[in-house]
Amino acid sequence: MRRTFSIIKPDATKRNITGSINKIIEDNNLVIIAQKRIKLSQEKAEGFYAIHKEKPFFRDLIEYMTSGPVVVQVLEGDNAVEKYRNIMGATNPENAENGTIRKLHALNIQENSVHGSDSNENAKIEINYFFNDDEIFNN
Ligand code: CMP
Repeated sequence: MRRTFSIIKPDATKRNITGSINKIIEDNNLVIIAQKRIKLSQEKAEGFYAIHKEKPFFRDLIEYMTSGPVVVQVLEGDNAVEKYRNIMGATNPENAENGTIRKLHALNIQENSVHGSDSNENAKIEINYFFNDDEIFNN
């Protein structure tokens, strides 16, 4: 599996920094093979984050993820899942390494600028949740 799924979140689209984030992705040799800027519906957001349903931050998370546009992406490259997690940095920007997207751009643990899949299995599920096969150029 050379693909992972990414979301550029509303805190980043609102600050007009999707290009800066994409530059970091590309500078690290991940290729953005599919991308769309969309409005996430309440239902779609709740479905995507269903695993966090019982968490205390769930309601806030859904409100935040539907508060502005998001950019959903498929990234391709060697060890894409692990590589993108390293490029993103820790969920909480206070714990993120220097040079990571979250260290550079995230505002706090919720408004943390990006999401990336945490396993190959979830990458497949998350890509299919947002993209049809005919939206991705396969070569
Ligand atoms: P993400 O990697 O998309 O997965 C779940 C999201 O919930 C996370 O990034 C944050 O945006 C948000 N979140 C808010 N509070 C927390 C928390 N305490 N721990 C983990 N994630 C949180």
